[in-house]
Amino acid sequence: MSRRRLVSTHPRPERVLLVGASVRGARERLSMEDSMAELAELAGSAGGEVVGSVTQRVARPTQHYLGQGKLETLREAVRDLGADTIVCDDELTPTQQRNLERALGGVKVIDRTALILDVFASRAQTREGRLQVELAQHEYLLPRLAGQWTHLERLGGGIGTRGPGETQIETDRRLIRGRLQKLKRELDSVSTHRSLYRAQRRERGLSVVGLVGYTNAGKSTLLNALTGAGVPAEDKLFMTLDPVTRRLRLGGGRTALLTDTVGFIQKLPTSLVAAFRATLEEIGESALILHVVDFTHPNAAQHVEVVNSVLEDLGAGDTPRVLVLNKVDLIGPAETVEDLALLAPARVLGDSNTPVVMVSALRGTGLDDLLATIGQGLVELEAAPTG
Ligand code: GTP
Repeated sequence: MSRRRLVSTHPRPERVLLVGASVRGARERLSMEDSMAELAELAGSAGGEVVGSVTQRVARPTQHYLGQGKLETLREAVRDLGADTIVCDDELTPTQQRNLERALGGVKVIDRTALILDVFASRAQTREGRLQVELAQHEYLLPRLAGQWTHLERLGGGIGTRGPGETQIETDRRLIRGRLQKLKRELDSVSTHRSLYRAQRRERGLSVVGLVGYTNAGKSTLLNALTGAGVPAEDKLFMTLDPVTRRLRLGGGRTALLTDTVGFIQKLPTSLVAAFRATLEEIGESALILHVVDFTHPNAAQHVEVVNSVLEDLGAGDTPRVLVLNKVDLIGPAETVEDLALLAPARVLGDSNTPVVMVSALRGTGLDDLLATIGQGLVELEAAPTG
């Protein structure tokens, strides 16, 4: 069964052509240009070489993802640029994927979801991380199996082609369902361990502070700077997949636990969120959430919105936050939050009750202020009546 992996055994990087079709009037968080730039970063993180892109604004979603005229442009681009793989910026329906592959003469077509799953698959280190990614990949694959058997349909369909093809698809489906069940059982046992561990932590009276943020915001760098954890931080998306928890010394003999989790991204595949629920539950357990923002990113405000909405989905919408504006070393003369507020939409700064701290995780500036704010936040939480 084809795994549709982008990182492959090719002797050279796969030549990737990006395709975006935005539906006119649809409310997207990022503009098509910004979303395509993000897709290019994802493709690079998966080891592909982006050779070009084709975009279109369509009136409504089409059977080929793009309109007929643009399809011709795409065909030419594939030929002229020698593309091996097409990556579409939205999750394709199985039919769209099949139609596109056919129309492009068999060039591999994948979508944003498959790409994100691929990046996750290459990053997962722990058993739990690998189980979670595999679960998400199988969930994604199940409704798409029919497309893998197009060689049988190419025979023309009808008499003589039905039996083996269908049987094979059914067999594959059964195999995948069996594997899915096994994965879920294994994950259940891992999360049981995890909740035992959490209970122990509670007994020891340690508060958990969760680190969240859009991918590449600088969470791992901040975790390292605050705790000396030695977690790899790279300018690649989704370097952190497996939660890392470290002891955080807050001064005055106080200690908390700081947990770094998977980064968020717009259009985060739902199968992935479901598969990573156990990991993400760590966030729900946090007493306080540090929301790290790459404040220098042109889409910082949209990133904040994406993270906030994922937190809502995880039931952590009401957990107290500290907004950490990171990478301020890259900002020129602006020196205060008020100055910065003039540079960026106020929504980056959150509601007025959320404490805001500016840091450079890389340079280590602002960290004392951050530690004091975390300490203060935890003290206030302890003092607050519990309901
Ligand atoms: P994911 O694993 O994708 O979730 O990323 P992350 O949020 O853990 O980001 P990470 O710490 O890996 O940092 C991403 C990139 O930003 C790296 O190249 C870091 O060196 C860089 N970076 C992090 N903090 C700062 C900072 O304060 N200033 C500057 N200039 N760069 C930073």
